[in-house]
Amino acid sequence: MARLKAETQDLHTAAERHPFQAAMAAGRVSREEYVRWLGQMLLVHRRLEARIREAMDAVPALRAVVRPFQFQEPYLLEDLALFGVRPEELTPTPAAAAILADLDRAAASRPLALLGFHYVLEGSNNGSRFIARSIRRALGLTPGRGDRFLDPYGESQRDNWAAFKRDMEAQRFSTGDIDFLVSAAREMFAAISRLSGDVAASPVAPA
Ligand code: HEM
Repeated sequence: MARLKAETQDLHTAAERHPFQAAMAAGRVSREEYVRWLGQMLLVHRRLEARIREAMDAVPALRAVVRPFQFQEPYLLEDLALFGVRPEELTPTPAAAAILADLDRAAASRPLALLGFHYVLEGSNNGSRFIARSIRRALGLTPGRGDRFLDPYGESQRDNWAAFKRDMEAQRFSTGDIDFLVSAAREMFAAISRLSGDVAASPVAPA
């Protein structure tokens, strides 16, 4: 976990400073942009989580670390339903489509990559909990309604992250495995930054 954190720090800083992420953190996004973000994250999480489920039998580390409550699809579906978005109408932006293809490729070639991807998205809950406060204020959301994905664990965030780290540390990864996890995590960080760019750039959907 120390290597994952240290060796992705530059990309975390870049992701945090991405104009769209910074705007969300400052509560300067419109409802449309926020909902567009949720829609794209649903497409990403849905595919990642399906691939993780399929790979669990073959990859002991996935089985040992990934817990059902970490799957974000249900929280995203709940949020999107509240905003009246029908998931079947969502289409991936170019960056999201590239992520979906990467997930399929990774699952077929070396599914341990899925754990590196999952690390990035599970870890992002640490910052999202703070972003949720700004988004609630900016969009007038009642806690628990429309913000489940940003703050899925509430007061359990710290404990859940500590448990994730403990479970990762308990795995017997070779140095080569860790190199591979770091490179998968770096890929996901970069991909999420590109997706942030797509969401910020998309035209506002007609009412
Ligand atoms: C404005 C945006 C963001 C803010 C303010 C933010 C803030 C934070 C904070 C405060 C932590 C906790 C550090 C700790 O307790 O050790 C954290 C951890 C983390 N964040 Fe972010 N974050 C942001 C965006 C993102 C994005 C977009 C991603 C993913 C693409 C991400 C992925 C992670 C990961 C993986 C960790 C865990 C690092 C580790 O301990 O291994 N963050 N973030």
